[in-house]
Order: sequence, then C-alpha cells, then structure tokens
Amino acid sequence: MTVKGKQHDRLEELRRRSAEAEAGGGPERREREHRAGKLTARERIHLLLDEGTFEELDKFMRHRCTDFGMEEQRPAGDGFVTGFGRINGRLAYVFAQDFTVFGGSLSESNALKICKVMDLAMRNGAPVIGLNDSGGARIQEGVMSLAGYADIFLRNTLASGVIPQISAIMGPCAGGAVYSPAITDFIFMTRETSYMFVTGPDVIKTVTHEDVSKQELGGAMTHNATSGVAHFVTGDDADCCAMIRELLSFLPLNNMEDPPRQAPSDAPDRREEALNSIVPDDPQKPYDIKDVIHAIVDDGYFFEVHEHFAKNIVVGFARLDGRPVGIVANQPAFLAGVLDINASVKGARFVRFCDAFNIPLITFEDVPGFLPGTQQEFGGIIRHGAKLLFAFAEATVPKITVITRKAYGGAYCVMASKHIRTDANFAWPTAEIAVMGPEGAVNIVYKRELDKTPEAKREALRQEKIEEFRERFANPFVAAERGYIDAVIEPAETRARLITALRALENKRDTNPKKKHGNIPL
Ligand code: HXC
Repeated sequence: MTVKGKQHDRLEELRRRSAEAEAGGGPERREREHRAGKLTARERIHLLLDEGTFEELDKFMRHRCTDFGMEEQRPAGDGFVTGFGRINGRLAYVFAQDFTVFGGSLSESNALKICKVMDLAMRNGAPVIGLNDSGGARIQEGVMSLAGYADIFLRNTLASGVIPQISAIMGPCAGGAVYSPAITDFIFMTRETSYMFVTGPDVIKTVTHEDVSKQELGGAMTHNATSGVAHFVTGDDADCCAMIRELLSFLPLNNMEDPPRQAPSDAPDRREEALNSIVPDDPQKPYDIKDVIHAIVDDGYFFEVHEHFAKNIVVGFARLDGRPVGIVANQPAFLAGVLDINASVKGARFVRFCDAFNIPLITFEDVPGFLPGTQQEFGGIIRHGAKLLFAFAEATVPKITVITRKAYGGAYCVMASKHIRTDANFAWPTAEIAVMGPEGAVNIVYKRELDKTPEAKREALRQEKIEEFRERFANPFVAAERGYIDAVIEPAETRARLITALRALENKRDTNPKKKHGNIPL
C-alpha cells in the first residue's frame, strides 16, 4: 500500500532527519578519519554490537547554543550516537563520540544523551560502554559543557560496582574529560590513534619546559605500560570492539547477577603432569606463572588484564569448568614476583572489581615479599601495599589460594591467606612459608654466632644453618599442621582441586559489617 498526502510528508521528514543525523560531519570529514585509520561513531557501534540490534536514542537531539554563530550549525544528534543493543545476545548500553561533528566535543545536549543511557543502564542493570573520541568540552558552550561532564562523572561514580563500565579511547581524550574513563572499570586504547592527558604537550612545554609528543605523553603504550591508567592496548578500532566483546563474556550484567557460565569444554579432572616439575629445584630460579595458569584453566585460555603494567603480578579472567574466575598471580619470571607499589595497586583494583561483580578469585602465590628500598618507602609502599591487603580482606566472593613456592613475610598474609577469610588454601609440596627466606633469616638469628666463628669456618656454618632453616620452615607442612593450609596437593591435580572447591563454594554467603563504606588507604 502506498502512503499518500500528509503521512507521506511526515515519513519523508523522518527519513530526511534520520539521514542528516547519520551523515555526521559529512563525507570529507569522514574520509579524513578513515585516512587516519579511524572509524566513525556509527561504524564502531556496528562492530561492537550484535548485528542489527542497535536501538538508537535521541537521534534528533540538537544543541541549544546560540553563541559564536552556532545557531547556524545544529546537526541532528549533535555528533554523539547513543542507545542500546546486544553483545553476545546480552543487553548493553553504548555511547560514541563522533569526531566528525565539532571534533566530538561535549555539548550540554549530548551530555544529556549520555546521562540518559547511563540512567537506563543503571535502572535495567546492564553495562555501559563509552567509545571516546573527542576534543573535550565544547568550547562555544563554556560552563554548560563543564556541567555536562560533571553530571557524567557523578553517574560514573554512582554506577561503580553496580554495572560494569567500560571505556574505549579511540582518538583524543584530554583535559578533565579523562576523568570519566578513569572512574570506569576498564580502559581500552587503540595503539596508533588514541591519546589521553590532563594537559597536552603545548601546556607542558610552557610550564615545565619539557618537549614531549602526544604519543609519548599519553599514547596507548604510555598508559598501558608506564602510568597503568589503561588496561588494554588494542590494534585498530575493529580489534578494540572485538576485545570489549570478549571481556564482557566473563562479566555479569550487574552486581546482582552471577557471571555467565559457559557449557564446560574441558574435563574438570584433567591432570597436568608437567606441573609436577615446573617449579625449579633452585629457589632462586624463575619460571613463568602464566604457564601454570594456562595449564590449569579451561582450554588454556587466559584473558589477561593490565598485561603491560607491573608485570610482577599477573591478573585476568579465565574459566574453570565453564565458570568465570578472576586470577591474581605473582610472577616469579619478573622481579622475582616481588610486591611493589604498582603491583599492589594493580592487584587491589582487580580484586575489588571481581568482588563487586561476584567473580570468584583464584590466587597463585610465589612471592619473596615486598620490594625493599628508599624509592618504594618514599613512594608509600606501606599505604599502597595496604590496598592489596584491604582488597583481599574485604572480598566476600569465593576465594581460593594455591601457594606454588614462596610465601614470605607480610606478603604471605596479604596474598589471600587463610587469616583474611580465604575459603580454600592449597599448597604445592614445593611451598616455602616463613617470615623470610632462609638466607636472610640465618643472617639475623645467627648473627652473633656467625661473627664469633673464625672466618675460615664461617661460610660452612652459615650454609649448615641455612639448610637447617630450610628443612624446618621452607615447606608447607608447618602451616598445614596449624590448619592455615587446608591441603598440600599434587601440582598435577590442581585443576581438579580448584574446580571441586569452586563447586563447594557455589552458594557461599559472607558479609562485611554494616557501614557506609570502608576507608581503603587510597
Ligand atoms: C568545539 C572543537 C573542539 C572543542 C575540536 N573542535 N575540539 N569544537 N570544541 N573542544 C573542532 C574543530 O574546530 C574542528 O572543526 C574539528 O573539531 C576537528 O578539529 P581539528 O583541530 O581540525 O582536528 P585535529 O587537528 O585532529 O586536532 C584534534 C584536537 C584539537 C587535538 C582534539 O581539535 C584540539 O586541540 N581541540 C581542543 C582540545 C581542547 O583543548 N579541549 C578542551 C579541553 S579541556 P571543523 O569545523 O574545522 O571540522 C576540557 C575540559 C573538560 O575538555 C573539563 C571536564 C571537567
């Protein structure tokens, strides 16, 4: 049936307005983005969401600015594309800044658009994904734009721990605008085309006389490897969207749900004989904890978070018998797995995320202690190390620890020990649990005796005492005799033991005392 008259006109108007919104800043600016290796907001959303599921909101919203000739340029949608759709069949809310319209800058109107999807996401309990590519506050709108940012920051804060919030940086993200992604749970950055900074190279040149490029200052690797602001570095925009989809496959939609279980694809009782000989005889020799993780988890698949930052601790998601778990592991292959400021902060943030979203925590421990030195002490290792301790202690999700080798000093307590409410504590026979390593211990405890011993015999005595110390403490059995370790297990059967423990903890309920919130040493 053909539509005629007034109805026809109305339909035509709808189509015209729709096409206007979809045109963004026009073909020239779109071409410019493509030449720079970037996609437009709509192209990105198309890649992020399941085919054909995008429901756009506020497509016809326009800015209300009448200064600086802005009343002459009022494109439908005002550059931001917002709405909801499905990712792997599950609900997700999304907003994307279109750099082709006023450089993706944030106006009062499109701040309202973002706030609307965030409010809907909170009400309906689904993640929000922000695709950032923006010149920041819409300069022509002044304080209205700043107010829009603050409205978003408030929502980011209130949504924290309720729904997963994910930020992708796919172009510029500068000034105070960085603080919205910074509050969200995970930041992805495209390798060649993104940057984030509070003040750019020109301001820095004026204030501190430093010469630095945008990429050096705030590129993807700077924030992934040096500052730790970002959690993932991706290839191009398509790769970034694919990685976000993958991350979401491990997460519940909100804090009232369990993470999504997949059909088990790997035998729960699979033994891994190689683990029985993975820990070297020489306690000073490293091994790669990621080999241990891969050997144990379903199909050897580990989705690492913060891969390039503080490599002495490894964090990320995996599945055990189809159930998502968060893994925290000391890495003996990097700085001997020592806990320093960056490792503590990295671990603490991950632990808190998992706890907020009901994801069980599996800890693999091989840690010689906290890193000594003035740099660490002056930098506040006490305060930062305490964050990790606080995070593990307050976590009420199922917690399971496997000590593979060293568990020394304060680090023993911190790394999800029995004493801070860990549900299942396992140790491999190679575990060494003590106040400190045998060498350090002997030098303190037998100092007088060693000093009195003639030099020719001193080293032999030291070695004898070290051996004695190792025999007594550098094993898991003293702790097992006290019940601090529930079971000393054969490394090859670790996967089966973890899965059995997880099944037993399926209905775990634990709470913290009622309070407004704790005071984690930030
Ligand atoms: C309005 C803007 C804009 C902005 C860019 N444009 N940023 N319009 N407000 N903030 C427009 C440009 O006029 C241009 O319009 C188009 O976007 C593309 O910009 P170009 O400069 O041509 O692009 P490029 O060379 O790629 O440079 C990108 C850029 C640069 C580095 C982002 O545009 C830039 O420096 N912009 C200003 C960044 C800034 O200082 N923002 C304020 C930060 S402070 P035409 O019509 O020519 O295509 C802030 C405070 C937030 O955001 C506080 C929150 C609390």
